[in-house]
Amino acid sequence: MSPDTARQTILRAAVARLQAANIPSPVWEARHLLCDLEGITPTDIIAYPDRPVRHITQYQDWVALRASGVPMSRITGRRNFWGLDFHVSPATLDPRMDSEVLVREALALIPGDQKCDIADIGTGTGCLILAVLHDRPMATGHGLDISKEALKTAQANADYLGLSDRVRFVESNWLSALKPDSIDVLISNPPYIVQSEIQHLDQAVRDHDPVLALDGGADGLDAYRAIVETTPKVLRPGGWIALEIGWDQGQTVPNLLDKAGFLRISCHQDTAGRDRVVLGQKPDPSDLKKTLGKGRAKG
Ligand SMILES: C[S@@+](CC[C@H](N)C(=O)[O-])C[C@H]1O[C@@H](n2cnc3c(N)ncnc32)[C@H](O)[C@@H]1O
Repeated sequence: MSPDTARQTILRAAVARLQAANIPSPVWEARHLLCDLEGITPTDIIAYPDRPVRHITQYQDWVALRASGVPMSRITGRRNFWGLDFHVSPATLDPRMDSEVLVREALALIPGDQKCDIADIGTGTGCLILAVLHDRPMATGHGLDISKEALKTAQANADYLGLSDRVRFVESNWLSALKPDSIDVLISNPPYIVQSEIQHLDQAVRDHDPVLALDGGADGLDAYRAIVETTPKVLRPGGWIALEIGWDQGQTVPNLLDKAGFLRISCHQDTAGRDRVVLGQKPDPSDLKKTLGKGRAKG
């Protein structure tokens, strides 16, 4: 008798394997892997449970990888972020839902009906800049990263999302590739993990996210110092910086912005209520002139 290759049978076996490996949400994960591989929807599984799984060996390999702790996105090579599909590679951080707070805050700074030049420092998959450009059709962007391999993935994502004509991806050590006074909004989710804590991170992060994307130096602030010190040169007057931060950096990073002369510094929280994004504005001398002008008129 030939083995039962029906979707429902194969799926049940996969759920049992993930359950035995203590993978959270085994039903959801087994279903997600099957849908991704077969190019079907969860409804297809329910509507046609007796149809055979076409890539059965590969599915079982995927389930084995997931059972061994490999993150889902590293198996499928894809991750959804801001409702868009992104390719991930060994050279890129797996985009995190928490980073969607940075996209939300950046969008609030960018009018929908005006041109705007945006730079994303440490772009990885390009998820931040591409999500922003997707929602702001008048904006153009620069995605910078020191990793050539990450930049290839970011470019592939821009092509896939049809955004290549409004973004350029450039190899750069932090902001070095940007021209002075050329940017309206600078966004970044830089590496911010304290070096000595990397070894204690969850195994899925430690083993699968590139260390270049995690390592923030002895106090986790190396990248912020490099970025915050040079951002005033590349921002236009009145331009904004928007930085993702670690949950315990809600004091230290705003202090760096303050020292660098930024105004209107604010901290914003993620859905769990933890500090997640810091904003600051470069002073605009013409605003000061206007204020002084008003003062003189009064006097
Ligand atoms: C935390 S990851 C963020 C990736 C992506 N923006 C995201 O939010 O998913 C930090 C990124 O900074 C890049 N990076 C590390 N050092 C850098 C440097 N000196 N100059 C530019 N980028 C750097 C890493 O390659 C990595 O892609």
